[in-house]
Amino acid sequence: MEIINLKKENLDSINIVLQDCFGISTEYEEDKIHLGITDIVSYVSLLPLELKVQNKNIKIVGICALSTLSKFRGRGGHASKLIQKSLQWAKENMIDFVALYGDCNFYSKFGFKKIPNLYGKNNIMIYIVNEDFNLEDIFSKVWMDNVWGNMPKF
Ligand SMILES: CC(C)(COP(=O)(O)OP(=O)(O)OC[C@H]1O[C@@H](n2cnc3c(N)ncnc32)[C@H](O)[C@@H]1OP(=O)(O)O)[C@@H](O)C(=O)NCCC(=O)NCCS
Repeated sequence: MEIINLKKENLDSINIVLQDCFGISTEYEEDKIHLGITDIVSYVSLLPLELKVQNKNIKIVGICALSTLSKFRGRGGHASKLIQKSLQWAKENMIDFVALYGDCNFYSKFGFKKIPNLYGKNNIMIYIVNEDFNLEDIFSKVWMDNVWGNMPKF
């Protein structure tokens, strides 16, 4: 646990504590210094992978285990922020695609596309970072055989 200076964007977290302790919520008051102790309420891990397709090196990152403690779900978009941060990380690290196994309903709003239902792996979703690639290429048979068909379970 770490003591941090809380900013306006931490207001939801401040109000969770105030609601629990006093049954009240507050606005963020700029003239006050706000201190708090952080703890992890939401988690995700990223697994970088390098693959070779048709003699080309491809950099993929797998998103794993996105999770939010049940009492913090649906409050402040914690998981959404972690997905956005993960996509930003992928862009900064010259990743070609982000891939995950997950619920299409949740991830499609971030721009993830479901790969065709092949190899019994019908819940892989991908997000194209490197715009040199297009969906037609990556859903082609060669990609299905070499990449999506062999995707490890992260
Ligand atoms: C899925 C999960 C990570 C979302 O965490 P969160 O911090 O509440 O997420 P956010 O606040 O960013 O988003 C919540 C929104 O997503 C929606 N949502 C959550 N799970 C969803 C799903 N499977 N399909 C569609 N929408 C979903 C919520 O209804 C909510 O909608 P709203 O914004 O319209 O109210 C959390 O519910 C969780 O830990 N679930 C158990 C583990 C899990 O299933 N992880 C996903 C692995 S692929």
